Amino acid sequence: MVSGVCRQRIFQMSRNVTMLSKRLGIKSGLFEQQKQLDASPTAQAQLAEKSLTGTSVLESSRTFYDFMTGDSADKRAYVCNGTACECAGQQADLKARLQSELGAAEVAEMTCLGHCYAGGAFMLDGQTYDIEDLDDALSETQSEQALIPEGHATTPSILLNPCSDINSWYAPVLDAISNQSTNDLLDELIAANLRGRGGAGFPAGIKWRGCRDYDADEKYIVCNADEGDPGAFSDRYLLERHPHSVIYG
Ligand code: FES
Repeated sequence: MVSGVCRQRIFQMSRNVTMLSKRLGIKSGLFEQQKQLDASPTAQAQLAEKSLTGTSVLESSRTFYDFMTGDSADKRAYVCNGTACECAGQQADLKARLQSELGAAEVAEMTCLGHCYAGGAFMLDGQTYDIEDLDDALSETQSEQALIPEGHATTPSILLNPCSDINSWYAPVLDAISNQSTNDLLDELIAANLRGRGGAGFPAGIKWRGCRDYDADEKYIVCNADEGDPGAFSDRYLLERHPHSVIYG
C-alpha cells in the first residue's frame, strides 16, 4: 500500500520525468515529433540526428508503444495490461469505469506505465495515475484550474540540483559511514525503508546486507545504469548531466 503523500510525490516525479523527457531546447517530446513524421528513413534519420539518438532507438520506441500506432493511437486514456497490474485484478473494472466516463472510443490498453508497485495503473491525458486516484484524476482533468502548465514543475528540483562542491555533496554520506558501524548503518537503512529507483523499488539496505554477508575473499558489485526502455530519454539526460545526483540517489 502506498501512502497518500508518497503517491503525490510519485505523481510529481512522473510529471517531472515527462517534462525531462522533452530534453532541453526541444519544444515537443520525441514521441510527439515521431507521430508528426512520415515513416521515411530520411525523416527518421534527421530526427535521430537532431535529438542525438539512433534511428534504431526511435524505431523501437515507435513500434513498441501501443499509443504510437494502430487502433490504440491517440486515446485519452490507457489502462495498463502489464503483469503486475493484471495480477492485482482490478484492470477490467478500471477500464469499464474509464469507458463509461470518457466513452469507449477514448480508452485503450498499453503495457506497463512504470507504476507496477501500485497494481492498478492507468494514463489519462498524458499523466499516469494509480487506481486509488481514479476519482481525483477524472475531476482533475475536468477542471481547468487543476491543469499544470506544461514545462513548469511545482516543487523544488531535486535531481537537477547542481553539484558545485563534491566534498560537501558527499559529506553526509561520509559522515554516516565513519560515525557508525556497518551493521548499525545497514539496520538504519532497512528501518528507513530506503528503496531503489527501479520499477521494483527493492529495499536498498537488504540488497547491501546481502552483499556484505556473502562469504568471499573478493567481492564485486556490478551497477547497471542502462536505460533500456525504448523511447525513454530522461535517464540518459540525468546520467550525462547530473551523475552525482544519480549516485547520491
Ligand atoms: S505492470 Fe502496470 S505499471 Fe507496470
